[in-house]
Amino acid sequence: MKIYDLPTPVFLVDLDILEGNINEAAKLARDFGKRIWPMVKTHKSTEIAAMQKAAGAEGFLVGTLLEAERLVEKGFTDIMLAYPVAGRENLKRVVRLAQKARIILSIDCVEAAREINFALEESGVALEYLIIIDSGLGRFGVLPEDAAKLARELRTLKALKLIGISTHPGHVYGASRPEEVEKIARQEIQALKTAADILEKEDINLEIIATGSTPTFRHVLEDNRINILRPGNYVFYDSIQVALGVVAFERCAFSVMGTVISSPRPGNLILDVGSKCLGLDRGAHGISMVKGFGTVVGHHELTLVSLSEEVAKVEVEGKTELKVGDKVRIIPNHACAACNMTSYLVGYRGEDVEKIIEVDMRNGSKTPIENIF
Ligand SMILES: Cc1ncc(COP(=O)(O)O)c(C=O)c1O
Repeated sequence: MKIYDLPTPVFLVDLDILEGNINEAAKLARDFGKRIWPMVKTHKSTEIAAMQKAAGAEGFLVGTLLEAERLVEKGFTDIMLAYPVAGRENLKRVVRLAQKARIILSIDCVEAAREINFALEESGVALEYLIIIDSGLGRFGVLPEDAAKLARELRTLKALKLIGISTHPGHVYGASRPEEVEKIARQEIQALKTAADILEKEDINLEIIATGSTPTFRHVLEDNRINILRPGNYVFYDSIQVALGVVAFERCAFSVMGTVISSPRPGNLILDVGSKCLGLDRGAHGISMVKGFGTVVGHHELTLVSLSEEVAKVEVEGKTELKVGDKVRIIPNHACAACNMTSYLVGYRGEDVEKIIEVDMRNGSKTPIENIF
């Protein structure tokens, strides 16, 4: 079957490009002596995680506890939680996970750490953690120069063992020019170096110095302190990565295929792909460089000027050959957000459909009866 024989809208992944993206990052990491723990929130698929592991990923970074639970169910054993966890019920889930896998926590404040420590002590479990360093995003994390202060404050918490530091330079997505990406990578390196120097002066051994973002990935490879890279989006790439100059358009593996369902007036087409497929994302953290709500492959004359839930309004610049009934593929602005809109991807090579890949780590994709009642 050819992809153009599929009903629409449909979420597609080009397997040759996906494999190429996974292998390239794994090779770069290996060549520069770095370990790779990819962030799985991009694809939320245990099958794609298995491909990353086969290419050399040592462990995974997760954005949700459900991602960790699904990975552990499938036998993956090395997981870092990207964000702090709070609340009795969620902490119970962490304890359950820790009984089956190596779980590394991320912490950036004393109040949350005390709560976690209490839950762990109650269950007789001790866990390793990383201190989150703020390298400029201003979301989680302590400033690099405050890392030792937090480490000292947490020293009395016996169920928590500090093994490293991590950061995520998410503000790179707010860059207004590709040249800014390199500047942000330098901030990322400097923030980790400052924090590591301060902690090591206090005789704290840092087994892990981790960072990760797809745009800055190539720029931090040469740093000799960072030892774990945790990129996420690189498996798919998307229109935002292209706008940031990270890769060429041809490296985008994920697309949504839609059909032209109306040509209501000159200069406009309507597609059956709306915000429930592409998301209304213009980029994380305020990027302004993308044009429209996605890029239509092979049709520079088209701009997705607005999305409603199920349809896209397209503006045609000049002429287009497209007519009602024709199918087009759209590279979303933000593939991580778009992939969360579906339970499965259709994997293909050339134009031939090869397999279904389940997106089985999505929140709400399966009722977790045992966790709720
Ligand atoms: C803490 C953390 N690390 C790594 C990543 C991966 O970043 P990217 O998708 O740019 O590769 C993210 C993405 O949200 C993140 O929040």
